[in-house]
Amino acid sequence: MGKKTATILFIGDVVGKPGLQMVSHMLKGLISKHSVDFVICNGENAHNGKGMSREALHQLREAGVNVISGGNHTWNNFNFFDTLKTDPHVLRPQNYPKGAYGKGFGIYPLSDGLGDIAVINLQGRTFMSPIECPFRTADWVIKQVKEKTRCIVVDMHAEATAEKIALGWYLEGRVSAVVGTHTHVQTADERILPRGTGYCSDVGMTGPHHSVIGMQIKSATDRFLFQTPHKYECAEDDVHLSAVLLQLDPETGKATGIERIFYPEFDRGSIL
Ligand SMILES: [Fe+2]
Repeated sequence: MGKKTATILFIGDVVGKPGLQMVSHMLKGLISKHSVDFVICNGENAHNGKGMSREALHQLREAGVNVISGGNHTWNNFNFFDTLKTDPHVLRPQNYPKGAYGKGFGIYPLSDGLGDIAVINLQGRTFMSPIECPFRTADWVIKQVKEKTRCIVVDMHAEATAEKIALGWYLEGRVSAVVGTHTHVQTADERILPRGTGYCSDVGMTGPHHSVIGMQIKSATDRFLFQTPHKYECAEDDVHLSAVLLQLDPETGKATGIERIFYPEFDRGSIL
C-alpha cells in the first residue's frame, strides 16, 4: 500500500549563514522523521541576511530543499539575477510588475507517485511596495495550475497579519495551504480552515534570534533611535528553526493536518 498523504515541510525565512547552517544541520533528520515528501523554504534573506545567492541556493538544495520562495529582498543581490531568471527551483512573488526577473509559481513532482504540487509565491501590499493585487494574481495562477494538480501551497510574503488572514479566507477551499512569511516571528494560529485549507499567519524565522528579526541589535536600535539608515549586519546567536508541517490529501488537495515546528524552544524560565 502506498502512502496516502503528501507531507510538505515549509521552512520559514532562512536568515544568513546561521540560518543556512541550521537547515543543513536539521533538514535530513526532519525529512526522515516525518516522511517528508517535499520541502519549501523562504530564502529571501539567506544571503548574509538580505537577498539570495548561488551559494545559498546550492546549500539549501544540498540540504534537501525542493523549492526556495522569495519576497521583497529577493532582488537585493544583483549577482543572483541570472539564476533567478533561469533556475526552476527559485521563486519570487508573482505579483511584481511584468518584466521583473524570475517567476512566481511552479509545478513540481512529489515523491512516491503522489502526483504534483504547485507552489505559488505572493506578496502583500500593506506597508509594502504597491505592486499588483495578490488576491487577483492568486485567482489567475490557480486557473493556470488547477488542471494539473489540486495540491497548491501559497507563500504569502506580507507584513500585515490581516492581509494574510484575508488571503487565507479568500483562497479557502481552492488551495491546500496559505502560509505567511516576512515578519520573522512565528504565529501560533495554525489551523485548517473549514473547507480544507491549512493556514498559519507567519511561519517565523530560521536564523539568529538574539537579534531584531535577524539583524544585529545595535544596528536595529540605532535605526529606531536616530531615524537614519544604519548598516545591515546579520546577527549570529541563538539560532532556531521555524517551520510548518502540512499533511495533504493528494487526490483532493485538501489539508488534513498542520503542525508548527519551532526548534529549539525559547527559554521561558519557570513560573512555578
Ligand atoms: Fe521580506
